[in-house]
Amino acid sequence: MKIAIFGGEKTVKEIKDWPPIDEIDRKYVLNSLEGTNHAYGPNCVELEKEFAAWNGNKYAITTNSGTAALHMSIAGCGLGVGDEIIVPSYSWSSSATCILHHNCIPVFVDIDYETMNMDVDKIEEKITEKTKGIIVVHLHGLSVEMDKVMKIAKKYNLKVIEDACQSHGAKYKGKKVGTIGDCGAFSFNQNKCLCSGEGGMFVTNNEEIYEKAKMLWSFGETRTPSESRDYHAYALGWMYRNNDLTAAFGRAQLTKLDGYLETQKKNASVLTDIIKDIKGLKIPYTPEGCEHIWYNYTLRIEPEKLDFSGDEVILRDSIMEAIRREGVPVGIWQSFILPEMTVFQAKNAYGKGCPWVCPHSRNVSYNPEEYQEAQKHCRRHFGMTYPLRQPNNEKTAELVGLAIKKVFDDIKEKGTDKWVSMVQEVKKS
Ligand SMILES: Cc1ncc(COP(=O)(O)O)c(C=O)c1O
Repeated sequence: MKIAIFGGEKTVKEIKDWPPIDEIDRKYVLNSLEGTNHAYGPNCVELEKEFAAWNGNKYAITTNSGTAALHMSIAGCGLGVGDEIIVPSYSWSSSATCILHHNCIPVFVDIDYETMNMDVDKIEEKITEKTKGIIVVHLHGLSVEMDKVMKIAKKYNLKVIEDACQSHGAKYKGKKVGTIGDCGAFSFNQNKCLCSGEGGMFVTNNEEIYEKAKMLWSFGETRTPSESRDYHAYALGWMYRNNDLTAAFGRAQLTKLDGYLETQKKNASVLTDIIKDIKGLKIPYTPEGCEHIWYNYTLRIEPEKLDFSGDEVILRDSIMEAIRREGVPVGIWQSFILPEMTVFQAKNAYGKGCPWVCPHSRNVSYNPEEYQEAQKHCRRHFGMTYPLRQPNNEKTAELVGLAIKKVFDDIKEKGTDKWVSMVQEVKKS
């Protein structure tokens, strides 16, 4: 059977967009629109209560982004100028730039190639007398090995911040992410499993951390706009508050979140069953004790098993192109590791070398060669988000699996070198 890139029929005819919108969303959003407070209004207050209850946190503060919630986490934990914070070398940029926002210094750790999360066995070698915190990133819907992280944190008296922006509802040994460390951050951005367009949530169980984070969130004030304010800046604050319309959309989506996550788990398992034995393709690994929620289903190519000796990036990109032409929107999540990014190489955060050259800081250097597992991941991965989410179903997941299988069967039949040059020809034409 000809594959689509060589003129055959494509396997997947339709993938529906994310997120599904129904009467519940319309009701919540219209109610907010017809209300009288469009700033930090009643829907913000309710979303905080509902999300805290859903996740199992004592305190929650809704923000205009996940990045804001991360910055609040650093301030909430009392971290400041020159403090070093450990963070994985592969993540979204703001998992690390949020550290700079508070004049702290990011120190990177390579990833564990199997889980794609921070290699927790490499944390201790990065700890100095200046290390004060660890930001763990539960990447793509899979929790970090939190027992080990918490043990190290206890030994060295470090704060633990959970970047759970991609992992709503993911569990580690039965506990939801965002409830294990000192505090955590969620994103409600367009592509997230809880989408309100933009937005986010800071969570903690610690009252002192909550109070400090709240000051940073709203102009350095000590009270929220739903309490009686004195409009006094008690500390340096930003304006990180959410607004009522966005929160109303978030509340509507939250009523459906558990259903979404169940669908993702089912669809991921259907897909895995179909592609798990494909030679040259590495399927995602879920360690025992972790409950993955499949924010992003990420695959890696294995060029050595495909007898390919050329450039692995060209091979990966050719495979991705062929799968796309079968009707499956696959993509690369990040093609740069964090320490390689200009902000860390040029140290151009606040100008004049700050915060690295500040008298309180250690002028750490960032050598991208130190993070070989993250580099390899960048060259070999591709993945998908919404094809496995509602309103797409198990039938869609099956077709996605068949599309991937069809492409790899074709590679096997033609031989990898010949197959790659044929794809390159089609791409040129
Ligand atoms: C792991 C991770 N951390 C932080 C963020 C930042 O979230 P936001 O875009 O809501 O600021 C994202 C967003 O994509 C993310 O994927």
